[in-house]
Amino acid sequence: MNIIVAISDNGAIGKNNNLLWNITEDLRYFKKTTLGSVVIMGRRTYESIGKPLPGRRNIVISRTLKSAPGVEVYHSVEAALKELQVCKAEVFIIGGGELYREMLPYASKLYITFVHITVEDADVFFPHIDFSQWREINRESFNRGEKFEHPFEFVVFEKVHSL
Ligand SMILES: NC(=O)c1ccc[n+]([C@@H]2O[C@H](COP(=O)([O-])OP(=O)(O)OC[C@H]3O[C@@H](n4cnc5c(N)ncnc54)[C@H](OP(=O)(O)O)[C@@H]3O)[C@@H](O)[C@H]2O)c1
Repeated sequence: MNIIVAISDNGAIGKNNNLLWNITEDLRYFKKTTLGSVVIMGRRTYESIGKPLPGRRNIVISRTLKSAPGVEVYHSVEAALKELQVCKAEVFIIGGGELYREMLPYASKLYITFVHITVEDADVFFPHIDFSQWREINRESFNRGEKFEHPFEFVVFEKVHSL
């Protein structure tokens, strides 16, 4: 299972149920990476996006939402994963903070966009990552984006399996 996320230098990922930045290159990277896959998100992230992501099987985890157009709703992560056992497609956890915290121990790959800014007033943060457990397998660095004027990097890590 994969996690994909964009994180600021101080670990922030969201505020007021919204993203903290608008980076065209990152949106493009997210789309290219997740197209054709299963995307799993928490109810708050689903509401923040507001619609199913096209070209992907959309799964929303919620104890309160019964159903929503174009997405499958499961009342627990376990129920969703059980349903996906027979599915051959790649699975991406796409947020938000609560779901990342629950799923980080089970992830085998992390697709992290490191956004090199500090966001003081964020209200959702990515959980602590023990980088000794992860091996970097790819990194693409940018000094700035087309419209975003700070540096950012697309980095992929895979879990190091201890014997
Ligand atoms: N920077 C990024 O890459 C990125 C990516 C995605 C999201 N975000 C940001 O993250 C923020 C949202 O994160 P969040 O932590 O507030 O919310 P979230 O993780 O998106 O959703 C939390 C909700 O998911 C449901 N849920 C979570 N775990 C569950 C479980 N084990 N069983 C059943 N339901 C479960 C619950 O819904 P119910 O209350 O309905 O039960 C819970 O209230 C937003 O600001 C968003 O923009 C950032």
